[in-house]
Amino acid sequence: MYTSLRKRFHRRNFLSLGDVSGEEIMAMIDFARELKDARSRGETYTFCVGKTLAMIFQKPSTRTRVSFEVAMYQLGGHALYLNAADLQLGRGETIADTARALSRYVDGIMIRTFNQQDVEILASEATVPVINGLTDREHPCQILADLMTIFEHKKRLEGLKLAWVGDGNNVCHSLLLACPSVGMDINVASPPGYEPRPDIVAAAHAAAKKSEVKVTADPVSAVHGADVVVTDTWASMGQEGEHQERVKVFYDYQINSALVNHAKPDFIFLHCLPAHRGEEVVDEIIDGPASRVWDEAENRLHTQKAILALLL
Ligand code: CP
Ligand code: NVA
Repeated sequence: MYTSLRKRFHRRNFLSLGDVSGEEIMAMIDFARELKDARSRGETYTFCVGKTLAMIFQKPSTRTRVSFEVAMYQLGGHALYLNAADLQLGRGETIADTARALSRYVDGIMIRTFNQQDVEILASEATVPVINGLTDREHPCQILADLMTIFEHKKRLEGLKLAWVGDGNNVCHSLLLACPSVGMDINVASPPGYEPRPDIVAAAHAAAKKSEVKVTADPVSAVHGADVVVTDTWASMGQEGEHQERVKVFYDYQINSALVNHAKPDFIFLHCLPAHRGEEVVDEIIDGPASRVWDEAENRLHTQKAILALLL
């Protein structure tokens, strides 16, 4: 099943959506949907029997940790949770040496850390596939689940308009790298000084053949006519000390009824979670009829099963 796709991805890394074509993203979503349907029919696909995934966490996690662990279990394999502070990594062993040692035991490594460069070093020294489970720069696994959720509810991706309102952070970056390649327009509204990285915006423009990429400071113009409205925390992991200041800066970037009135009447709302209710989004929206955040959280499981089945 999905043999040619599995050949194409076999032993590749999954570090950035900038490395995955639009056609590959669509194929991964299709595979994830089949895995989801199979699960609901009570069928199992045991692509990872006898395989082990090491999961290194340098930051907290609920969804990523649990969905990867359950994904490996459902595919017949095993996942190891490794808190970076408990590894020799926490006492100064290098990322490269950690990669070399782990590669002798496991079949894949998932890492959540700060610097994208550490993930790249890990991948270059490991002899097994490496998956980016979030860095300060990107969150590619999240965006695969987001696009699957949009596809389920809108029956297509091409031609849709997505509005990101808030911090130009890791999740925003991965959306910028993925939306243009699947033919979606993306509008980003961030306060001055909190925009996405210029190199990522440039990559998004370069990938946009039939779609539009817009970065603005005006949330209303970003949301105007949007099919999908997305936000995330105003202070990401590692920015806790900036929280008070950011709450003031981002005040006008809250997702509330007044703002989403500018979106299409059938828009959907996404948030990678965890949400900070009353800050980036109000209860009325996240608990309201447009919200698809729980489908989005569930789809982390199905898309990651697709990633694991393809890479491992
Ligand atoms: N969305 C997401 O990655 O959630 P966790 O931080 O709980 O893993
Ligand atoms: N931008 C958030 C995402 C959490 C899943 C962070 O990095 O903390």
